[in-house]
Amino acid sequence: VFLGVDIGTSGTKTIAIDAAGNLLAQASAAYPCHHPKPLWSEQDPADWRAATFKTIRAVVKKAELKPADVKAIGLSGQMHGSVFLDKSDDVIRPALLWNDQRTAAECDEIETRAGGRKKLIKLVANPALTGFQAPKILWLRNHEPRNFAKLQKVLLPKDYVRLHLTGERATEVSDASGTLLLDVVNRRWSKPLLSKLELDASLLPACYESEEVTGKLLPAVAKQLGLSTDCVVVGGAGDCAAGAVGNGVVQRGVVNSSLGTSGVVFCHSETPEYDPDGRLHTFCHAVRGKWHMMGVTLSAAGSLQWYADALCKTAGGKSESFDKLVAEAAETAVGADGLFFLPYLAGERTPHADPLARGAFIGLTQAHGRGELTRAVLEGVTYSLRDCLDIMTGLGVTAKEVRATGGGARSEFWRQLQADVFGKRVVSMQADEGPAFGVALLAAVGAGEYASIAEACSATVQTATESKPQAKPRRFYDRGVEVYRSLYQSLKDDYR
Ligand code: XUL
Repeated sequence: VFLGVDIGTSGTKTIAIDAAGNLLAQASAAYPCHHPKPLWSEQDPADWRAATFKTIRAVVKKAELKPADVKAIGLSGQMHGSVFLDKSDDVIRPALLWNDQRTAAECDEIETRAGGRKKLIKLVANPALTGFQAPKILWLRNHEPRNFAKLQKVLLPKDYVRLHLTGERATEVSDASGTLLLDVVNRRWSKPLLSKLELDASLLPACYESEEVTGKLLPAVAKQLGLSTDCVVVGGAGDCAAGAVGNGVVQRGVVNSSLGTSGVVFCHSETPEYDPDGRLHTFCHAVRGKWHMMGVTLSAAGSLQWYADALCKTAGGKSESFDKLVAEAAETAVGADGLFFLPYLAGERTPHADPLARGAFIGLTQAHGRGELTRAVLEGVTYSLRDCLDIMTGLGVTAKEVRATGGGARSEFWRQLQADVFGKRVVSMQADEGPAFGVALLAAVGAGEYASIAEACSATVQTATESKPQAKPRRFYDRGVEVYRSLYQSLKDDYR
């Protein structure tokens, strides 16, 4: 039995699978995200640790697992977050997350120190973006010098949990790529960039390949979780690469589209490939010797969550369920009767790299009701994914099929919408467990159950449903996406 843990932004999900990839049990636990100031996004790492321990115990209980049953654990999680630790491994301040936008000045500082954007891309394959980890470390140095003076280690979210499971300070290449401190081409920390930024290499953890074993459970932890001290923890992967492994996107020809809090379009690369304009990220894949490109929209299902919380409360004061809202949207006309939504609630990465971008409803009339508003949100988010896909296609990436994953992919309506907006076949997967499934497979490889990730994927990954683009909506959305794109251009300067 192998466990996969995904430490997401809205909660942590843990699954147990057998060697054939069958789901034995799953459990999840939610926690809050804090926005103490505009552009800020923070979480308490203790919440991730507590949710991981709680869900592992729940899964062990539900599947009636004995300590010796679980051979390995894989960790996945939200990328880029910074957990700042002091010499006792205590958290110095709340973690800054992937969708935190406070670091625009530090991104400029990094590009200047690196000798310009081109030189930076040469060192770490990517331009400096506000969500990445390195600008967060510089922000701590520039704005909270007393905290910076205490700093001994910076970990990514899932790697903070690893520290508590195994006692090891370790990461792996796919998540490390999102720090902006990894020499992505050579899959090791970039000493030249660290020195230009005057950051000590000892701040960073050891960096492994994703299926490599990074340690074993600490005795006290094993006891608390009902597991054995022989249970190994493998590197795992950032949630984007983990989701791709879980969907079998470990070769060219298919792309992954993920609708979680963020939205991600992801393709596999045999060699490091770049978007010359830096709109897509070039990161290590969780597959040894392979890379990937991805475009990221910051508020995908996160937009729907905001909309449900802010505008759709039930009489009992709860937010309306996504299912009900989507069912209402499905009753309305393609294009929501001329209503558009820009999903830039937390600024935007792909394609604008603009921390100050704002969300908007545009084109309201008194004839619009809640169904049209919801539809506009779903269409706006899907246009944003289309932006990512079009950049990839423009770079020569061909995809015969889009594999849908994330909470949003559970909705048949939203999968069909993706097919219509992308003009491509969109499939759902048998195991729609997302990143947790991907890292459970990495755990199986690390424990020697499969010889390679490709082998694990071909033994366990299967597509389920298929949505084909429909001619009329497809034509409509080809025009709609142009209007959607022009709206950002018209509005962007008003928020500077
Ligand atoms: C990827 C990214 C997000 C987070 C969300 O670059 O920032 O997808 O990983 O979990």
